[in-house]
Amino acid sequence: MGPMPTISVVSMKGGVGKTTVTLGIASAAWNRGLKVLVIDLDPQANATMGLGVDNPPFTTNDVLADARPGIAVDAILPTPWGANVHVIASERSLEHRNAREGAYSELRMKSALANVPRTYDIVLIDCPPSLGELTRNALSASDAALVVTEPGYFALHGAQQAVEAVDVIRSSTNPAIRTSTILMNRARTTVAEHRMRIQELQDAFGPLVSPVMVPERNAIPQSEGAGIPIHAWDSPAGRELSGVFDQLLDQLLYPFGRAVREYP
Ligand SMILES: Nc1ncnc2c1ncn2[C@@H]1O[C@H](COP(=O)(O)OP(=O)(O)OP(=O)(O)O)[C@@H](O)[C@H]1O
Ligand SMILES: [Mg+2]
Repeated sequence: MGPMPTISVVSMKGGVGKTTVTLGIASAAWNRGLKVLVIDLDPQANATMGLGVDNPPFTTNDVLADARPGIAVDAILPTPWGANVHVIASERSLEHRNAREGAYSELRMKSALANVPRTYDIVLIDCPPSLGELTRNALSASDAALVVTEPGYFALHGAQQAVEAVDVIRSSTNPAIRTSTILMNRARTTVAEHRMRIQELQDAFGPLVSPVMVPERNAIPQSEGAGIPIHAWDSPAGRELSGVFDQLLDQLLYPFGRAVREYP
């Protein structure tokens, strides 16, 4: 049994593409025949919906409410994406858990995940648009963080806040969490303003900025709305995005010594 990299997808700002990136990486893993678990820690439940799961019987809200060691295993659900793609779903009421509840409350998810079978090739945690208690729970249970940003005026500031939040976790609940990777979504290198924002980010964070960038394409909202993995979206944009998320998956798995090209 190899390592089971657990990666939180985070940002302070809303709507920058966390869920899109979570689903895109899950799609790349699915396409490669890998086993993937998506944990939806956002009360908006967009990842749950994007995986085609409606009215889940158990959610991350139940997991955090109970928080007995290992309890998360009972909340793992199958998804219509395929036998290798599982989810711990979310629901609106998870919102009530975004506040501190006692000294160790940011360790509830880690504890609940203790017994998850180490058969997954990758575990992805989709976070809400804040660096509050739910995101702290995700980061405390993760091996790495993927900070998503867009090439806007506040991108640098937002990425900085998220990287700092990860650093705080490293110096408190989770010393083993790796240096963050920063991913630019909706980047258009033909736009001068975007090139400037990308350069700004690279000047500030150097090699933390992923060389992989996700372009802006209508295939993203279309495939998400249909609950279909981007790798199954048969269009030029679908194929382009599949290639982007393949590269991103390779980059994320590489430090964990996973086989980089493990196609079925
Ligand atoms: N690269 C892209 N090209 C086109 N549309 C995109 C792209 N990335 C994201 N979107 C769309 O933008 C919207 C917001 O993206 P998404 O839901 O992934 O962001 P988020 O960071 O998860 O949002 P929230 O903070 O609310 O959880 C969605 O409708 C999504 O389909
Ligand atoms: Mg989201």
